[in-house]
Amino acid sequence: MGSGIAEVSARAGLDVVVVEANPAAVEAAQQRITKSLDRASASGKLPADECQQALDRLVFSADLDDLADRDLVIEAIVEDEKAKTELFAALDQIVESSDAILASNTSSIPIMKLAMATRRPEQVIGIHFFNPVPVLQLVEVVTSLHTSPTTIDRATEYAQTDLDKRVIMSKDRAGFIVNALLIPYILSAIRMFESGFASKEDIDQGMVTGCAHPMGPLALADLIGLDTTQAVADSLYEEFREQLYAPPPLLARMVEAGLLGRKTGRGFYDYNK
Ligand SMILES: NC(=O)c1ccc[n+]([C@@H]2O[C@H](COP(=O)([O-])OP(=O)(O)OC[C@H]3O[C@@H](n4cnc5c(N)ncnc54)[C@H](O)[C@@H]3O)[C@@H](O)[C@H]2O)c1
Repeated sequence: MGSGIAEVSARAGLDVVVVEANPAAVEAAQQRITKSLDRASASGKLPADECQQALDRLVFSADLDDLADRDLVIEAIVEDEKAKTELFAALDQIVESSDAILASNTSSIPIMKLAMATRRPEQVIGIHFFNPVPVLQLVEVVTSLHTSPTTIDRATEYAQTDLDKRVIMSKDRAGFIVNALLIPYILSAIRMFESGFASKEDIDQGMVTGCAHPMGPLALADLIGLDTTQAVADSLYEEFREQLYAPPPLLARMVEAGLLGRKTGRGFYDYNK
């Protein structure tokens, strides 16, 4: 997700610093973005000179201190509340401008939890993109009880004007708008498959052909990542304690097995074939 956000921001003419966890991850991010831009250029969607200009606007680093001069930082690390609150506390110390916005691409973690890890809760906001970022037009802007009107305006302007995305506004509840609806649907599909009621192919085919969805729920879980799907379900369940948000055992076992979907080559489907 971080690569996608960096790519669309650079394509929109913004200077972007991408910070990854370690040098190997920096290399992987750089390759992912270059490949995506090359693909857009080869298919004629992006002129060759604009592809090069976008690449020139990107700087890659494994050092958080390189974010010191940023006006807007968008966090997109793993969906783990402890990791995210630690990162927000660190960013609060590092990012120098007192006006700078600290945003999160979290799919489900309440923004207030991240805001309260900083000394600038009024400048913390959710800017939630959808996967794949260069393709899907939606951005959810998520405001906490502390987010200031200026922060909301600037975040909306970035998504809507700079990136030309469609913005919807969400209140600060786990899962926001889209995942509060999507995750119970995916979990129901996993339960249906787990119970032996239907094959994974028939479940997915049913929703693609019967409801005109671009992909079925199990293929979508593989695209999102089963670890992320489980983490979002956990956040929803923790917040609402409703059975429909409880992750089914099969999902937990697949995550423990490292079968995380496309990113590891296998989830409900095998992507190595
Ligand atoms: N996968 C989706 O469809 C989707 C959609 C919208 C939002 N999100 C959200 O985006 C975030 C990332 O999801 P993802 O699917 O890209 O996860 P991912 O596991 O594919 O990628 C996470 C990245 O964060 C990096 N990272 C981890 N800890 C870090 C740290 N401390 N500092 C810097 N980099 C660090 C990892 O190296 C990795 O590249 C999550 O909050 C997720 O909920 C995901």
